[in-house]
Amino acid sequence: MDTRAIGIFDSGVGGLTVLLEIAKALYNEELIYLGDTKNFPYGDKSKENIIKIAKKCVKFFIDKNVKLIVIACGTATTQAIEELRETFNIPIIGIVTPTIEAIKKQTINGEKIGIIATEGTIRSKKWEKELKYNIPNIEIINQACPLLAPMAEQGWIVNNVAKETIKEYMKPFINQNISKLILGCTHYPLFKEIIREELGNDVDIINTGEKMANYLKEYLKEKGLENNMNKRGECSYFLTDIECNFIKVASNILQEPDIKEKIRKINIE
Ligand code: DGL
Repeated sequence: MDTRAIGIFDSGVGGLTVLLEIAKALYNEELIYLGDTKNFPYGDKSKENIIKIAKKCVKFFIDKNVKLIVIACGTATTQAIEELRETFNIPIIGIVTPTIEAIKKQTINGEKIGIIATEGTIRSKKWEKELKYNIPNIEIINQACPLLAPMAEQGWIVNNVAKETIKEYMKPFINQNISKLILGCTHYPLFKEIIREELGNDVDIINTGEKMANYLKEYLKEKGLENNMNKRGECSYFLTDIECNFIKVASNILQEPDIKEKIRKINIE
């Protein structure tokens, strides 16, 4: 039993798609969300820069005495997780392992899997390497979608611009017989319905937040880190910059009109 909070971070609103799944699956856990809005977007930054930024996020959580850190960001997971684990003595879970652990049980030889993510994530080739290592004889189609995370931060997730942009980004997958599409950036579940319209119902659209929540549940149980208090866990929110759309977009995503009161500005420099 461990009542300390779980730290969850991303560059902005994307990680909230992970937070929502965690809050649903792990009712009792206290959560602390860090939106590093000052450094948004992560997707087009160099690996070196992402490592530097991610280390600051981890230090913030260590100061908050969390029991575990979730990197609710594909870009930081694929480019910084090894360095973070080498530097800090705290459990750190990124979105890649939980997702691969879950889908490898449901994937057969010869399947074709699509991956969409930020430029940094696609450049890292992390998903492709890990998938091919864990599931032999699969084919991968990668597609960077650099406009989607900035659009999500604007709250442009259901308008015509979103529809046209998704249409364009989905072109490499049309008539390719992919069985799964991994949403390798945590902002992308916000576009899931439009993606579904483009790809149809036969493609399994993978939300990494769902896989993270299931994985985390098992992980906490196995390590004796669960919070067994008989009450709903609270979530507090920290942003590195508040002059942004986070509050408006987050209150829609979380269905919490008074989210503003729970958000505090923090300096992690
Ligand atoms: N949500 C993030 C990801 O999963 C970051 C997007 C960005 O900041 O560019 O990659």
